[in-house]
Amino acid sequence: MNPREEAQHRVEELRREIHKHGHAYYTLDDPRITDHEYDQLFQELVDLEEQFPEFHSESSPTQRVGSKLAGAFAEIRHAVSMLSLNNVFTDQDARDFDRRIREVTEADTVEYLVEPKIDGLAVSLVYEHRKLIQGATRGDGEFGEDVTRNVRTIRSVPLELLTDSTPALLEVRGEVFMGRKGFELLNRRLIQEEAERERIKQEKAKESGKDISTDQSESDGGQANSVSKTDAKGEEVSVLSPTNNVSKPAKRVTYMNPRNAAAGSLRQLDPLVTSKRPLDAMFYSIARYEGPTPPESQFDQLELLKKLGFKVSPEAKLAHGIEECLKVHQSLLDNRDRIDYDIDGVVYKVNSTADQEKLGFVTRAPRWAAAHKFPAQERTTTVKEIDIQIGRTGAASPVARLKPVEVAGVVVSNATLHNEDEIRRLDVRVGDTVIIRRAGDVIPQVVRVIEDQRPEGTEPYKFPTECPVCGSSIVRDEDAAVSRCTGKLICQAQLIQGISYFVSRGAMDIEGLGPAVVGELVDQSLVHDVADLYRLTVDQIMSLERMAEKSTRNLLTAIEKSKQTTMPKFLVALGIPHVGESTAMILSQEFSTLEELMSKSQAELSEVHGIGPIVAEGIDSFFSDERNRRTIEDLINCGVEFETSATNKRLASTLQSQKFVLTGTLSEMTRTEAKKQLEARGASVISSVSKNIDYVVVGENPGSKAKKAQELGIEILDEAQFAAMLAEIEDSG
Ligand code: IVH
Repeated sequence: MNPREEAQHRVEELRREIHKHGHAYYTLDDPRITDHEYDQLFQELVDLEEQFPEFHSESSPTQRVGSKLAGAFAEIRHAVSMLSLNNVFTDQDARDFDRRIREVTEADTVEYLVEPKIDGLAVSLVYEHRKLIQGATRGDGEFGEDVTRNVRTIRSVPLELLTDSTPALLEVRGEVFMGRKGFELLNRRLIQEEAERERIKQEKAKESGKDISTDQSESDGGQANSVSKTDAKGEEVSVLSPTNNVSKPAKRVTYMNPRNAAAGSLRQLDPLVTSKRPLDAMFYSIARYEGPTPPESQFDQLELLKKLGFKVSPEAKLAHGIEECLKVHQSLLDNRDRIDYDIDGVVYKVNSTADQEKLGFVTRAPRWAAAHKFPAQERTTTVKEIDIQIGRTGAASPVARLKPVEVAGVVVSNATLHNEDEIRRLDVRVGDTVIIRRAGDVIPQVVRVIEDQRPEGTEPYKFPTECPVCGSSIVRDEDAAVSRCTGKLICQAQLIQGISYFVSRGAMDIEGLGPAVVGELVDQSLVHDVADLYRLTVDQIMSLERMAEKSTRNLLTAIEKSKQTTMPKFLVALGIPHVGESTAMILSQEFSTLEELMSKSQAELSEVHGIGPIVAEGIDSFFSDERNRRTIEDLINCGVEFETSATNKRLASTLQSQKFVLTGTLSEMTRTEAKKQLEARGASVISSVSKNIDYVVVGENPGSKAKKAQELGIEILDEAQFAAMLAEIEDSG
């Protein structure tokens, strides 16, 4: 094939692919690939068609404004077509976009309106004489669906325009979306509702003497497969069929992501259902306007929209020139996780309406706007293996080992699968192609499996019944989704995790004992429990693969140093169930010695302020275990010591019952730290200023609290005075 033929071949292939994926996305609300992959295919086609104009075709997806309708709603024709946006992916693309605009407008610097690209679905609303008369989806851009009754249920959509000088006719464009919190709550509710329906069904069946646990009425013929379809209500459900020996939930009742949930919710046939969905809407432009003083810029449009009662993006900003646009892009990218709704990029729009007219449109999008996309948070990759990791408490967590893939700037090769239920819900199998998602610092998640791409002959994953490390049985916690290895002390994985926890910063704080060294110590049988750490010799440590003379000496010094500790740190290190830093602090303040703490019954423990019954039980059962008592004794014999709480007590009483308010930013410590320090001294930290307060600590940029304190004549401490107060007490204590 010559290059031209090759290109033609590729163009045809791309058109077929894009048509297929476009249908799945727009019509079925059931995307088969990520948005990012779709964009890439689309862009490749745009580029090829530009390079080879002779392959032009009216039926190419690039020639069409949008997508087909699913048919459940009445069709309406948009008076002004709803266009889409051209995408740019890199800063250079954005600069090229700006250059093309400057060539047409002949301006040195272009003023842009910059705003987030919300990941929801576009709607158009028509108002006549102040009243909302029509709401429509975008559809294919020319024809949309009449969703007026559903749109009316969205709280942030004005049913009547505000102010008197309203236009006789107004058509606005905006985005309907669902916040992430609302999305999570909705999915949880849908699962509960489904469980309730299932329960009733089972009950009814029992009454009529029929067992429906093998009912295949919703299966797709017994294939171990899942089909997705749009049910009578237009709601996406994917029906999982029962397979041989793995029981699976009968239905997928949740939505995949907030965008899907917004689309599914807006397109319910029953508006009552829509009204119970946490939908929101923001508006970004005016398509038709018959009234006084039409807006002359994008910015004016937003101002007018606000005045008329619409929600507009609080992030929308004017920018002078493309470099300023890029700064806004970066800052929104850095903060995208702090905003409750998904944004998948930033939109740059030429601000002046006159310039917009000059620039005009190409087939599917205005020349005066561009969407600068963010790096995808979702990508596809394949599952190479599913491993089980055993944690300190024996919890067995499945992890998907992935073919490495870059997601939002970070290479990801593992994703958590949480637990047995989650694997079953997703039906992830080794060999599967999966969509993974990474948001902020959160551990990557498997969003779902692309079943179309499942290789032949795969089997549903069977959760192991034996610990892969020690061979003990794995048992599922009653009433919880967690499965645990029952090996406890004989399980090397638990031992390694337990030791790593023991030496970690908030516990015994032994530097130089990373997981690899701990693993080797356990593997070489040099350490069988935490006390063995204090019996290690130079020769033993030197025998480890990664230890030379100097690192050995450093490690021994660190181990020696760790013997002088505090009671809270020691309690944390023991790994008592539910006892973290703050609980350990409470316990050490309450009981002056470890012996005293160990002698308390569960009932006595739960009387301590801040200790609940579950924590009390955890402490009690930990100290009742003979092996734990022996380890503690052993540690103390090895020389581990901590101030008994006599000193804690003294510290604890120094500011007894004093009430503090903290305001403004402290430069030397965080507020949480300041609070901890105060509480260690018996003081309490209150959030609002009243005359009962003893001290107000004022950091930088204090708010109204400082002023109020002054008015009430409360003693005000600046940061230095505050630090001095803490230090003074510590010295004398
Ligand atoms: S302007 C003619 N602004 O992105 C310009 N669109 O690919 C039309 N979107 O269908 C769109 N946030 O659903 C614009 N601030 C924003 C947007 C936005 C989200 C969506 C909208 C549109 C798609 C364009």
